[in-house]
Amino acid sequence: MWCYEKRLQYPVKIAKTCPQTAKLIITQYGGPDGELSASMRYLAQRYSMPVKAVGGLLTDIGTEELGHMEIICAMVYQLTKNLSEEEIVNAGFAPYYVDHTTALWPQAAAGVPFTSLEFQSKGDALTDLHENLAAEQKARTVYENLLRVIHEPDVREPLKFLRAREVVHFQRFGEALEMTKEKLDEKNFYYFNAEFDKQFLKK
Ligand SMILES: [Fe+2]
Repeated sequence: MWCYEKRLQYPVKIAKTCPQTAKLIITQYGGPDGELSASMRYLAQRYSMPVKAVGGLLTDIGTEELGHMEIICAMVYQLTKNLSEEEIVNAGFAPYYVDHTTALWPQAAAGVPFTSLEFQSKGDALTDLHENLAAEQKARTVYENLLRVIHEPDVREPLKFLRAREVVHFQRFGEALEMTKEKLDEKNFYYFNAEFDKQFLKK
């Protein structure tokens, strides 16, 4: 279970609305490398992770990603608050507005809706951990792309924080991969793979 703490992991105080920026940042809510995808990926994978400590790490990072999703949603919300109809039309925000008003709905920057196909939960520890390492790098790239095109300091600061967390997560998953390889080797995992060859490939 979770306990909710009523504060953001990093504060969001955006003074000026900017629907153009909201349209870009929303990709880290519902885009392929966004925080919704990250949290669902880790919180799904943890059940089938054979090494207990790595399952615990997935719960920790998955939980933190939920907190990151909350930061992104707060940013999108503040960037689209109290818009006039004229601002909505001039900013090219009307297609989103007619479907969702200014409510939060997970989609990528290009308008593609969120889908669970954006992440994988494979039940193979090595496969899942490699997916996670790649996911953290992809998320870092998206934050760097956002930081290249967004210049408002009160929007950039939370983005910088979120980018730094992706780097930490990548490092943690790197350690988890090494730990998993060692533990699986202890259990004769490579012998198991040889058994797989014998059973399914050399018939
Ligand atoms: Fe992350």
